[in-house]
Amino acid sequence: MKNKFYITTPIYYPSADAHIGHAYCTVMCDILARYKRLRGVETYFLTGTDEHGEKIQKKALEKGVTPQQYVDEIAAKFQALWKAMRISNDDFIRTTQERHIKVVQDVFSKLYKNDDIYLGQYEGWYCTPCESFWTDTQVGEEHLCPDCHRPVHRASEESYFFKTQKYLPALLKIMDENPKFILPINRKNEMMNTFIKPGLEDLCVSRTSFDWGIQIRENPRHIIYVWMDALTNYISALGYDSDDESKFKKFWQDPDCEIVHVVGADISRFHVIYWPMFLMGLGLRTPDRVFVHGLLDLNGEKMSKSRGNVVSPLPLIERYGVDAVRWFLAREFAFGSDGRFSPELFAERTNVDLANNYGNLINRTTSMISKYFEGKIPALSKLSEKDEAMKELTEKTIKSYELLMDDLKVSEGLTAVTDLLNAANKYIEETQPWVLSKEGKVEELGNVMAILANTIIVATKLLSPVLVESAEKVYALFGVKKELQGYDSIHEFCPFSGNEVSKGQPLFPRLDVAVETEFINSISK
Ligand code: MSP
Repeated sequence: MKNKFYITTPIYYPSADAHIGHAYCTVMCDILARYKRLRGVETYFLTGTDEHGEKIQKKALEKGVTPQQYVDEIAAKFQALWKAMRISNDDFIRTTQERHIKVVQDVFSKLYKNDDIYLGQYEGWYCTPCESFWTDTQVGEEHLCPDCHRPVHRASEESYFFKTQKYLPALLKIMDENPKFILPINRKNEMMNTFIKPGLEDLCVSRTSFDWGIQIRENPRHIIYVWMDALTNYISALGYDSDDESKFKKFWQDPDCEIVHVVGADISRFHVIYWPMFLMGLGLRTPDRVFVHGLLDLNGEKMSKSRGNVVSPLPLIERYGVDAVRWFLAREFAFGSDGRFSPELFAERTNVDLANNYGNLINRTTSMISKYFEGKIPALSKLSEKDEAMKELTEKTIKSYELLMDDLKVSEGLTAVTDLLNAANKYIEETQPWVLSKEGKVEELGNVMAILANTIIVATKLLSPVLVESAEKVYALFGVKKELQGYDSIHEFCPFSGNEVSKGQPLFPRLDVAVETEFINSISK
């Protein structure tokens, strides 16, 4: 494991309010950032908004405000949402900030001077909503955008182009030599077959048809293509090319920092193909991994404002608490595959994992410790076979959790922990503490209680990157002191004897699936 970690979300278009799909990516990155911090890795987590482009200019015009006013309002809402979701980003970059604009202009100039960019004429099929030009093959006979499937139109303009062929061999080498450069690994074939093998064209990197963007210093009639502008955020936010490059040196240039971009499947080609090429042109290091996650739909339909089926995270957080929402997003979908959001799945997932498994285990354990040991976690004595098995399983779980999380397999990592919690519930059934108590087997009963408390606390540490509020509550319930809440003590077995345990309200009340389905449907618009 490298000793530093830089993780980024895509920067979101503030063209409409954030929905659960945007929250998904941000929460996954937050979990990874919190996980690395928990492991003592120095971490920098970046998110932000991508505020330029024709689409935003049009939206502002429709609303009768300036583009800047338009994006200011929505960017503030994004920030408020991330706060409500307990996102632990270290910075929030907006592409209309001075610190970013200057860097983008410099990047363009450097690549231009380096002979990576030339002035030419662009002719092609243009998709306005995606702000992308497409080739004949890509739009097919129906002339539809291959990304959003809306009609495209013929357009021609004087443009600057980036020479992709110049860097293609180096890019292919990176892809070959680093099997984990694109994750999940099957996404690599998609890149090769859809974009690289059919023949990669030079990338058009300027526009003259609108003006809401960053001007090219050398030719101010041109605006820098929104993707060159947007991708640069990953280094402008670190202070690249500024008076203070300390963060850039630490989190980008240092080979001991792992750089991970997490992006949705629809924008992977920009991150996998063009971004590394721009970086090579600048003489900079390329990222270690581009993790491509799937897209979430609602009940099998693409979420879209015009269909009126967009789920906003805020009302969910208000009703179920931030942890239930974070948990659902992280655990329900295999990170990397497409996923279906449905109200039933949300309510069932909350019930199965949080109410019945984790929550129930906590309630049972705190009640039993109160009843049998006057609320104090007992000390261990000689372990039985079943006790030893729980001890071993706990250690095994920590190991597999670490391996999976380090490999960005978040949902699988969490499943390892829920398996441990299930095993602890089973351990109660098998050891039957109520019988041990009746038979006066105090030492055996004490072991069971100490081991249950230990399992809950270890599981809580492992789940703390996701369950940010509940983790604190569980530590409080079990009287876990600050110095024992961290990861350093995770391999100590049962160091909590004597802790005062309190009986709190159930952390996760069971949800009525029918009632909650109706509620979630009522807020989807
Ligand atoms: N602004 C560009 C990204 C520039 S990054 C240098 C952009 N913005 S976006 O707002 O349209 O999308 C941002 C991210 O949200 C993308 O990774 C996209 O895949 C993701 N999602 C948008 N809808 C989504 C779902 N329904 N499900 C999961 N992720 C979704 O593209």
